[in-house]
Amino acid sequence: MKYLQQMINARQADSKFPELKETFNEEVKYLSGIIKKKLKDKKSGINVLDACCGEGYTLRDLGEKHKEANFFGMDNDSDLVSRAQIITSPLKNITIVLQDILSMPSFLAHNFFDLSYSTFNTLGSFRQEERFSVLSEMYRAIKEKGYLATITWKNKDKNVTDFLKQYYTYIGFKIKEIDDNKTIVENEDDGKLNQEIFERLSLDELSSYYLQLGIKDIKIDPIGKLWIAFSGKK
Ligand SMILES: C[S@@+](CC[C@H](N)C(=O)[O-])C[C@H]1O[C@@H](n2cnc3c(N)ncnc32)[C@H](O)[C@@H]1O
Repeated sequence: MKYLQQMINARQADSKFPELKETFNEEVKYLSGIIKKKLKDKKSGINVLDACCGEGYTLRDLGEKHKEANFFGMDNDSDLVSRAQIITSPLKNITIVLQDILSMPSFLAHNFFDLSYSTFNTLGSFRQEERFSVLSEMYRAIKEKGYLATITWKNKDKNVTDFLKQYYTYIGFKIKEIDDNKTIVENEDDGKLNQEIFERLSLDELSSYYLQLGIKDIKIDPIGKLWIAFSGKK
């Protein structure tokens, strides 16, 4: 995947795209606040799931900050999982597995996590008919009083659209279509042209998935270019 190197460069200290790095940092800061709270209640040994962890940068940053917590990452792309395993290998509190979140055996990751989260518009990269299933697997994975957090791009926001134009171009995708709700891109992968659609969920859509899970006290926080939908399991 040719765009990966740019994604990786953007996350380094000398990033050529500081606005993107700032976005990753904001995600980490917010999630770190939730983990701190959980650790304060429980002291140690909390379990955290990064569903669809990609190359594992969020996990690495959180794992470095919170040595007392156990982190698990899951992704169905074997290249990304290998990279995530390499960059997190110095940290003994992180485990990364190759797993399709939509076909987890029912015994796996059931009532096990204190926090289950997805970052960087993961939900919007799934087809609409799959999104609820992804979220319900993340929810199934958490224990009673565990937290569920999902981070998506703000929709209907021109600043975010302008930022995304720069971002997709920076990582080497050709933009076919972009508006305040979605981006359609083309990228070349191993000589094959792929088309991908990244949607930006409306607050109504986000809330409706939580409601379908029986969660009424959803909290939606704006952080920079993103929305974080957050709730606890009763
Ligand atoms: C928008 S990327 C976000 C990656 C990462 N969370 C980050 O912050 O960079 C979505 C990720 O979902 C993964 N993914 C897509 N479908 C999946 C599935 N069915 N099961 C597990 N992971 C999946 C992709 O491989 C990709 O890494």
